[in-house]
Amino acid sequence: MIELDAVTKVYQAGAVQVRALDAVDLTVDDGDLVAIMGPSGSGKSTMMNILGCLDLPTQGHYRLDGADVGLLRENRLADLRNRSIGFVFQSFNLIPRTSAARNVELPLVYAGVGRRERRTRALGALERVGLGDRGPSMPNELSGGQQQRVAIARALVTRPTMILADEPTGNLDSASTAEIMRLLVELNGTGRTVVLITHEDEVATYAKRVVRLRDGRITSDDRVGAR
Ligand SMILES: Nc1ncnc2c1ncn2[C@@H]1O[C@H](COP(=O)(O)OP(=O)(O)OP(=O)(O)O)[C@@H](O)[C@H]1O
Ligand SMILES: [Mg+2]
Repeated sequence: MIELDAVTKVYQAGAVQVRALDAVDLTVDDGDLVAIMGPSGSGKSTMMNILGCLDLPTQGHYRLDGADVGLLRENRLADLRNRSIGFVFQSFNLIPRTSAARNVELPLVYAGVGRRERRTRALGALERVGLGDRGPSMPNELSGGQQQRVAIARALVTRPTMILADEPTGNLDSASTAEIMRLLVELNGTGRTVVLITHEDEVATYAKRVVRLRDGRITSDDRVGAR
């Protein structure tokens, strides 16, 4: 479970202070599928970075599965991040001139998993996203939608409990967007918590819950009918 308790994030930009999040309370239950929406600059990515343990609140507490993230040492935090969270980004962030299979394997290299198990699990994750036969392909040989599916396979390969996606369909056409969203819904259906940021109403219709941010505050939080 995710719990933000009065989380404030202040950035110091030269002489100006930017209050990107302002005393935000948010609880996300295991197995939920939440879309975070809001205008540019409203604090969505800031919230995602905190949820992903990539950044810490200036004030307030973030508890992930009961552990107060702010109290963990950097190595424990890195460990928690690698074990519990799979990240998906708008720009796919695949490593160029490196095969799809190798891209998917990399988180397991960092986790110290042996070569054979890495290969097996990477192939399993690629199959999971419908790209079982594209392991040898280089990123530039794949379409945007396929690259994003490789990125999702890479996020899945460590078997995280939570997937965090910042504008995962931001660079995709509507057909690929639908494909990626159906995949995320499917992964959510098998028990993974999914939190995604989106600008697009169409994307938010796949979520079970829509949280709207404005100026670093939650302005609405609605449970919606998942399709
Ligand atoms: N590293 C930083 N240093 C200073 N200010 C920052 C930093 N990161 C974000 N901000 C500011 O914090 C506010 C929230 O930014 P954030 O990136 O969370 O918005 P966002 O909702 O993700 O916007 P977008 O939809 O454009 O991606 C903005 O005013 C932004 O300028
Ligand atoms: Mg953003």
